[in-house]
Amino acid sequence: MTSFSNYAMEKKLIFLIGFMGSGKSTIGPVLANAIGWHFIDLDLTIEQHVQLPIHEIFALKGESFFRAIEKEMLSHVSTMDNAVVATGGGMSCDQENRNLMHASGIQIWLQWHPDNLLKNAKNAGHLRPLLKDDDSFLELYYSRKQYYETADIIISCDNLTIQDIVNTILQSVTKYNIIDNDEVLDIV
Ligand code: S3P
Repeated sequence: MTSFSNYAMEKKLIFLIGFMGSGKSTIGPVLANAIGWHFIDLDLTIEQHVQLPIHEIFALKGESFFRAIEKEMLSHVSTMDNAVVATGGGMSCDQENRNLMHASGIQIWLQWHPDNLLKNAKNAGHLRPLLKDDDSFLELYYSRKQYYETADIIISCDNLTIQDIVNTILQSVTKYNIIDNDEVLDIV
């Protein structure tokens, strides 16, 4: 725990990035709990701020309005300490957003085979304005992959349980000399 606090003085946030269906909002709270940090779901903060669900923001106000609020919320969150932040799948496509995440934290890409992303996104049971059909979903994924690849840490999530993914994240973070191995074992 101590080392996480020390690290927080420089990089004080962990951003979970990746495409729709990568489990950022599911894995985020488990990871945050394991290290005693806060969890922030950026899409939720947008919904609370605008007082509308994401799909209605897209339908009523348009994607560019959503992207502007998304950037505003990121800017607000980037001033916070000790939090795991689940970002929306489009967050990393914007250079300013990537710069801000880089300056204030480490970015972890939850990487899955695109077929699994599609399966996860369809199973998730909430409305996603950008999930129209399989082909456009995959096309969008391949157009964005280049941005996710700029993450500090990439976790291959296929065939792993949520707890496995969290443990892998903690081990990877240790390799970055953020915390000692012993302390990760204490935390998990
Ligand atoms: C988006 C992904 C969504 C949400 C919005 C836009 C995207 O979040 O931010 O619908 O552009 O990929 P999830 O990645 O949590 O589905």
